[in-house]
Amino acid sequence: MTDTSSTAAVDLSLYPGGTSLDADGRLLIGGCAVADLAETYGTPAYLVDEGALRRTARSYVDAFASRHRNSLVLFASKSFPSASVIGVLAEEGCGVDAAAAGELGLALAGGADATRIVFHGNAKTDDDVRSALAAGVRYVVVDNLDDVERIGRLARQPVPVLLRVSPSLDAKTHAAMMTGHDASKFGIPSGQVDDVIRRIRREPMLDLRGLHAHVGSQLLDLDQFEAAVRALAAFERFPVYDFGGGLGVRYTSADDAPSIDDYAERLVTAVHRHLGEDVELLVEPGRSMVARNGITSYRVVTVKRGARTHVAVDGGMGDNLEVSLYGQAFQPSVIDRSGPAEVVDLVGRHCESGDELAHDVEVVSPRVGDLVTVPVTGAYCYTMSNNYNAALRPPVVFCRDGESRLAVRRETFDDLLRRERLLPGTDD
Ligand code: LLP
Repeated sequence: MTDTSSTAAVDLSLYPGGTSLDADGRLLIGGCAVADLAETYGTPAYLVDEGALRRTARSYVDAFASRHRNSLVLFASKSFPSASVIGVLAEEGCGVDAAAAGELGLALAGGADATRIVFHGNAKTDDDVRSALAAGVRYVVVDNLDDVERIGRLARQPVPVLLRVSPSLDAKTHAAMMTGHDASKFGIPSGQVDDVIRRIRREPMLDLRGLHAHVGSQLLDLDQFEAAVRALAAFERFPVYDFGGGLGVRYTSADDAPSIDDYAERLVTAVHRHLGEDVELLVEPGRSMVARNGITSYRVVTVKRGARTHVAVDGGMGDNLEVSLYGQAFQPSVIDRSGPAEVVDLVGRHCESGDELAHDVEVVSPRVGDLVTVPVTGAYCYTMSNNYNAALRPPVVFCRDGESRLAVRRETFDDLLRRERLLPGTDD
């Protein structure tokens, strides 16, 4: 063990913009002490800095509005599918990217305006299509020929649609997050696009307004967005273009990521050069909207020192699948006290060796009961939270100006049991 070094200290640049330490060195999210929130709401918990989230949304909207007259920033709701999060972002001027009926329902429940919702799904059922038509979304994104048939059959008036293109681009990211390559299950491969456009035009209930491309997620090289613009410019011109999401974020102090402004500048410049200044431009950021604005708090349950030091907390892959699914590196901290530093593996409480939150990380030497925070968990963690080992999904707490509000309550055991029919032993 060494004295607390800079790597064991909390790197505030990974935390929401409003994060600070109080006079006693306690970590404050949105002005609320994480320790107080742990008392009030328990752990693990997803803590969202509402003020920082609102500021990110406004920067996104401004970054595009100031560069392009006719733009709309749609929050990719899959990255944090909570009606409250969607509602806050809608208040700040964002529309919503909703995939299938479930996300559409959340967006409407959050107060989003249907005319600012773009509807997605690579396997839309009849019910999905009906829900989009009933809501009156801005565009339905056609992903396959069966979408054309379904919309044609179910619509009673012409539906504005975009066509999702898979533009043959191998995005530089984790294989599971590549979505614009030839082998992708999403969109129409470039070679078939002209045919599908003709097919759509034969269908009177489809009003083809433009093209869509989303080539991948956690993209750190802006050239890839420009490549997507060039790829869509190879087809006939349309009034609307949607370039999806994908902008990557920093997860650890060692990472570097482009700013929202740099991204907007590159994308809009490419759009103006290749598609013109008059098109309607849509983007669908998820991760870069929410990731840094949320953290997860845990309490240390046990520390086991042996070949490695395993620090086990009261959560894990039930609330954060990013590590086990994508090998994502996070930078946790033992908070609210100083002390010698120690290199540890932060593990969860699930029955699986892959249940790790961080590997080989330096933290203040942990003790049972300590609070641990993992920053940059605002994207896709709540999304993929699950009930492995009948774990109860954590609450979502909004923090702003020193006040906290429960946005989603903690799941209870009754919630789990409610779906069970308890077949053996029931009389009826
Ligand atoms: N638009 C479409 C059509 C998408 O499929 C996605 C993400 C987005 C926008 C938002 O992309 P973002 O800005 O967040 O990169 N489960 C993975 C992420 C999968 C992303 C899927 N699509 C994860 O946990 O990292």
